[in-house]
Amino acid sequence: MVSAHGDHPASLHRRGPALLAGGDSPFDDWGPAQRVEVPQHRLDTPGGLVIVDERETVLGTVSWVFAQWGPNAASRNPIIGIWLRREARGRGVGTETQRQLVDLHFRHTTANRVEVHTDVENVAEQRALARAGFTSEDIIRGAQWRDGAFHDGFLFSILRAEWAA
Ligand SMILES: CC(C)(COP(=O)(O)OP(=O)(O)OC[C@H]1O[C@@H](n2cnc3c(N)ncnc32)[C@H](O)[C@@H]1OP(=O)(O)O)[C@@H](O)C(=O)NCCC(=O)NCCS
Repeated sequence: MVSAHGDHPASLHRRGPALLAGGDSPFDDWGPAQRVEVPQHRLDTPGGLVIVDERETVLGTVSWVFAQWGPNAASRNPIIGIWLRREARGRGVGTETQRQLVDLHFRHTTANRVEVHTDVENVAEQRALARAGFTSEDIIRGAQWRDGAFHDGFLFSILRAEWAA
C-alpha cells in the first residue's frame, strides 16, 4: 500500500516497465479495470430482459443493442437477440418472445424497424423469425465472431408498418 506521505514499500519499486491500473497515490485511483454491464430495462439504450413462464421459471433471456443507419436520431433501430435454455426450445417460446419484444419496441419507442442478425446455419431462429413476422433481407458477411471464427449471417427485419398491419 502507498502511504499518504508518498514513501513506497520495497514491493512497489519496479525494475522494468509496468502498467498501473490507476495513479501512484491512493487518491487518484481510476477505478476497477473491468466495467460491469448492468442490464437495463429502458428500451432506448442497450438492455435485456429475462424470459419466464407462468410459474416464473426462467426460460432464457433477450437483449438488444442498436444499429445507426444514418446521422440523425431517427435512423437508429434496435437489434434484438434471444437465448433459450435447452429444455425451453422447440415449443414456440422463441417465436412468441421475439413477437413480444418487437411489440415492446414499437409500442414504447419511435423506432421504424427492429432487426435480428442470425447465423446462416441457425435454421430454428430463421423459422422462428419468419413466424414472428420478420423478413430476411440479405447475407451479412463475416460479421459475427463465434467459436474462434467470423461467421456469415442473415439480417432480418420487421418494419413498424408491417407490425401495425
Ligand atoms: C433459436 C431459438 C430462439 C428458437 O426458439 P424456439 O422456441 O426453439 O423455436 P420455436 O419453437 O418458436 O420454433 C421455431 C421454428 O424452428 C423450428 N425448429 C426448432 N428447433 C429446430 C432445430 N433444432 N432445427 C431446425 N428447426 C428447428 C421449429 O420447428 C419451428 O419451425 P416451424 O414453424 O416450421 O415448425 C432457440 O432455439 C434458442 O434459443 N436457440 C439457442 C440460441 C440461439 O440460437 N439464439 C438465436 C441467436 S440469433
